[in-house]
Amino acid sequence: MKSPLLSIWATAVFLTFVSQPVQSAGGKQCVCELKNAQRPFPMDKLDNIGTMASQCNRSITPNQMEEMDVLTLGLQRRLEQLKDSMAVLEKEDDGELYGAVSLRIIELELAEVMELMAKLKRKTQSNQQLSQATSNQVQNMMKEMKNLEEFDHMQVMKKHWENQRIKRDLAVCQQGLQVTPQPPTPARGHCPQGQLVSVSGPRTYTLTQYGTSYPYGAWGKDPNPPPGKEGMHWLVALTSSNVFANFVRQYSTLTTIVLGVGPTDTVIASSNPTTNTIQGPNVVMYGDALYYGCYNAPSICRFNMTARTVTNVALPQNSGFNNKFPFGHLEAAYIYSDLDFATDESGVWVIYTSPENFGNIIISKVLTDSPPALGKTWQTSLHKRTATNTFMACGVLYATRYVDKEIEEIFYSFDTVTGKERYDLKIQIKKMLTNVQSLNYNPQDRMLYMYSDAYILSYDVIFR
Ligand SMILES: *[C@@H]1O[C@H](CO)[C@@H](O)[C@H](O)[C@H]1NC(C)=O
Ligand SMILES: *[C@@H]1O[C@H](CO)[C@@H](O)[C@H](O)[C@H]1NC(C)=O
Repeated sequence: MKSPLLSIWATAVFLTFVSQPVQSAGGKQCVCELKNAQRPFPMDKLDNIGTMASQCNRSITPNQMEEMDVLTLGLQRRLEQLKDSMAVLEKEDDGELYGAVSLRIIELELAEVMELMAKLKRKTQSNQQLSQATSNQVQNMMKEMKNLEEFDHMQVMKKHWENQRIKRDLAVCQQGLQVTPQPPTPARGHCPQGQLVSVSGPRTYTLTQYGTSYPYGAWGKDPNPPPGKEGMHWLVALTSSNVFANFVRQYSTLTTIVLGVGPTDTVIASSNPTTNTIQGPNVVMYGDALYYGCYNAPSICRFNMTARTVTNVALPQNSGFNNKFPFGHLEAAYIYSDLDFATDESGVWVIYTSPENFGNIIISKVLTDSPPALGKTWQTSLHKRTATNTFMACGVLYATRYVDKEIEEIFYSFDTVTGKERYDLKIQIKKMLTNVQSLNYNPQDRMLYMYSDAYILSYDVIFR
C-alpha cells in the first residue's frame, strides 16, 4: 500500500485538483494535478502516518508465509474499508455531527487494523521483531489519527463539495479510459462440483404477497424436504416491528410464491412477540423444520413443521442477541440480525458473535438430531458489523459487504475444513434494491435466496 492513509486524507484535505487524461509511456492515465494554495491541515503529521503506512507495507510482503499472507490481505482489506469510509465522510453534507459519527467508525476500523496486527504478532514467530515494530507504528498512527480528528472535524467539512467535484471529474476521466476489471478470484472449497466462482442473476425477482409492507424477512426452499414437499417454498416476513414473526408461510411451487397465490400459514406462536416468536430475519428451513433466533434469548429455536413444537438449544454464554451484534454497513445496521442461520451440503449452521471474540464472526455447526444440539465451533477474524450477511457452501463461510446500491460483494471466506481465511474474494452479486436482510444457499438447487427490502430474489451459484 503506497501510503493509502496519506492518499485517503489527502483527498479530503487538498484544495484544488485538475483531472485530465495524460499521455505517458504506458498509455493514457488519469492524473490529478494538485495546486495547493495553503496548508490549513497539519500535513506533516499526515505525511508521517503515510510514511509509516508505506513502511508497514514494505516490511511485510505477502509471501513471507501463508498465515501472514492471509492476515496481510485482511489488513489491506481493512485499509480499503477505511478508504470507503472516507468516501462516505466526504459525501456527507449534513453538518458536523455526521462527520463525527463517521470519524468514530474510522477509529473503530483502525482498532480492527490493530487487532489484525496483534494477530500477526502472535502468529509470526520468525518475524516477531518486525511485527513488534509494525504494531508500534500502527499504534502511533492511531494516536496521530486521534489527534487529527478534532482538527479534521473543523476543516474537512468545508471541502466536501470540492472533493465531490474532483471525484466526479476523476470518474469521468477514468471512464474515458478502458479499465479492465480484475477477474474474480476462485475461493477454495471442498465442493465436488468445484470452487464457487460467481453468482449469476437475479434469476427471479418479485415482491412478496405482502407488497412493500415488510422490509425484513427470508425465503427459500428446504434442501432436505420430506416426501411430498419437494417443490415447496417458504417465506417468513417479519411482520412486527421489522424484528418478529409468529408464522411461516408456504407455497407449493416457485411459481405460486412468485405469483403470490394459494399460501398455507403455519402458526408458531399465538401472539407477537412472545415465547417462541421468531426474532431476526436470517432463518432457514431444513428437514421440515424452521431454525431461527429465539425471542429475547441467545438460543437457537427449531420449529418442527409436522409436530408444531419448538425445541431450543442455548448458544455459548455471552453470545450476542437482542440487536447487540447485527450485520451492517457504514450507512445502516440490519436490526436484530445477531443470529444468521445457513444451510449447506452438510446441514445447518449458525453464525453469530460474542465480546470474547471481539465481535468477530463465530461459526457453529447445528446438529439436526432430536433434540438438536450445538456441534463444532470456529472463530474467525471477520468483524460481524462489517459484513452485510453470510452463507455457507461446502463447509465454507462466505461473507458479503455493501459496495453500492446495485452491487453486493462476496469478499471474504472461511474454510471450516482448513481454518483458512481469505479477504480477497471479489464475487459480485447484482441487486435490485439497496439492502440485503437475508441471504442463504440451497445446496440442492445450488441457488442463493435473498430477501431484499421486501423483494425476494434468487440467484444461480456458479462452481468451476
Ligand atoms: C504493498 O506492497 C506489495 C508488495 O511489495 C505491492 O504489491 C502492493 O502494491 C503494495 N500496496 C500498495 C497499496 O501500494
Ligand atoms: C418432527 O416431528 C415428527 C413427528 O413427531 C418427527 O417424526 C420428526 O422426526 C420431527 N423432526 C425433527 C427434525 O425433529
